[in-house]
Amino acid sequence: MSQVQTQAAPATQAKEPYLSATAMRGGYGKADILHGCTLQVDMGQIAVIVGPNGAGKSTAMKAVFGMLPLREGSVKLDGEDIIKLSPQERVYKGMGFVPQVHNIFPTMTVEENLEMGAFIRKDDIKDTIEQVYHLFPAVAEKRKQAAGELSGGQRQQVAVGRALMTRPRLLMLDEPTAGVSPIVMDELFDRIIEIARTGISILMVEQNARQALEIADIGYVLVQGTNRYTDTGEALMADPEVRRTFLGG
Ligand SMILES: Nc1ncnc2c1ncn2[C@@H]1O[C@H](COP(=O)(O)OP(=O)(O)O)[C@@H](O)[C@H]1O
Ligand SMILES: [Mg+2]
Repeated sequence: MSQVQTQAAPATQAKEPYLSATAMRGGYGKADILHGCTLQVDMGQIAVIVGPNGAGKSTAMKAVFGMLPLREGSVKLDGEDIIKLSPQERVYKGMGFVPQVHNIFPTMTVEENLEMGAFIRKDDIKDTIEQVYHLFPAVAEKRKQAAGELSGGQRQQVAVGRALMTRPRLLMLDEPTAGVSPIVMDELFDRIIEIARTGISILMVEQNARQALEIADIGYVLVQGTNRYTDTGEALMADPEVRRTFLGG
């Protein structure tokens, strides 16, 4: 037997990130919005994307989820090239996506929203529904109410809960704290940390950059469709240039 076969992989060998979207180029129609954007998330990590309005953060999320055809670049999930897969096929592979807008069905009840979220599942979803209610008790109390009647923060919880119904390995959130109070934001970030602790990877876009970077294992500052800074959340918060330009000093 050759040495290669008998030897264990060296400990220093770099492990591939759970999500690896590299050098993405693409946009709407003929105009490119993403110009070589790279996003990577390890298993159970929280990755946060920040950057000015119109930087292409939502576009990058759509690209990772397969809602935007890419002219260049690759998207791999758990080492598998998924670039040709539709969004629904990516859900089967373990992606869950909460878009920035229209992320709930307002006229349906909370519970119906969660049931809709489980659309790809053929097995019993009761346990998962209970897990979501355990994570978001305020939402559990309103399970029979139309989701559109809930507060902004609770609607966002329903949206996150809906995405959890497929039991994703990678949860993608586009501005989950948009329009909510600071207290509700903190609460939602705590729940996101809790989700990540179960081993689910988080890829999240946030306008509340400081607070989001505080909980980020890795942060991406995106400007004009390209990576301007990439580092740990802590390092980005400590970088005077990042602070001055993107975190308001
Ligand atoms: N559906 C669309 N069709 C055409 N252009 C779009 C569309 N969505 C976004 N854009 C443009 O792409 C750029 C990036 O938008 P977006 O990804 O939403 O930025 P961000 O999420 O960082 O605020 C903006 O210039 C925006 O006007
Ligand atoms: Mg956006």
